[in-house]
Amino acid sequence: MKKFIKNLPKAELHLHIEGSFEPELMFEIAKRNNITIPYKSIEEIKKAYNFNYLQDFLDIYYQSAAVLVTAQDFYDLTFSYLKSCAAQNVRHTEIMFDPQTHTERGISFETVISGITKACKDGEKKLAITSLLIMSFLRHLSEKDAFKTLEQSLPFKDKITAVGLDSSELGNPPSKFKNVYEASIKEGYIPVAHAGEEGTATYVWEALDILKIERIDHGNNALQDSNLISEILNRDIALTVCPLSNKALKVVTDLKDHPLKKMLDLGLKVTINSDDPAYFGGNINKNYFEIQAALNLTKHEIYQLAKNSFKYSFINDTLKEQYL
Ligand code: HPA
Ligand code: ZN
Repeated sequence: MKKFIKNLPKAELHLHIEGSFEPELMFEIAKRNNITIPYKSIEEIKKAYNFNYLQDFLDIYYQSAAVLVTAQDFYDLTFSYLKSCAAQNVRHTEIMFDPQTHTERGISFETVISGITKACKDGEKKLAITSLLIMSFLRHLSEKDAFKTLEQSLPFKDKITAVGLDSSELGNPPSKFKNVYEASIKEGYIPVAHAGEEGTATYVWEALDILKIERIDHGNNALQDSNLISEILNRDIALTVCPLSNKALKVVTDLKDHPLKKMLDLGLKVTINSDDPAYFGGNINKNYFEIQAALNLTKHEIYQLAKNSFKYSFINDTLKEQYL
């Protein structure tokens, strides 16, 4: 089964580039930028990665991202992730990045996007991996701040495919971002959002009806509402599920209790993703391995999950045909 998973061509649709920041690279970049980080060793870092809920993780994730300063830093971060994709037979990836995590610290939007896009171009040339970008708004900040980010993105519009919504979900419902999503759609960005990770089914409804999202990041709590399940099925909207993330952030207590199998049985279009692989104990293949073992998934189900990852990606139809 592991070999089957390894050899299976896959796409990753839910990945935060800042969450792919492995401790080794973090040390290296902190050193060259003369930034002190609060850890002395990789072991200390690993010990700190012990989370009880989403906010525990976010506090550390933003702190670590603060060592990224130059376009070269963003290049190295992204290219390192793309190399790991190549090693796992991930052929296509849709990378989320959080501009506000960096612009808030005085790093320009251009620095962030130029480093990331240069790595993506090299990933295509040298590693044969296609990629596109999802610019994510931080939901703990205001809608006004998100509008500022949208404005900053416009000169680079040709490099960005979609907009997303991440960070602290509870207390920051999708409806808070109604106007900026409307404006983003007008600019041609495809809307997606994290919903139903810690938030209730109501958050998923809002993301669908108010933000008009075309894909749901996580969506676990959609299962609380049977009308919502029918709606997601009717609209043929996919869920980007992240098993090891859910375990690490205690969204599920054990992978054996993970709703993924139930989602598949309901006919929902599910994909498997790593979310923040450097923090949650595993890359995309490890997510496939562990959820397969926990839920006793068949090869046919694994194949379906990988197929969904291409089918529900945002690549153009010609390329999609090639992958499918
Ligand atoms: N959830 C919400 N926001 C995030 C995450 C996540 O798993 N990773 C990075 N930002
Ligand atoms: Zn996420």
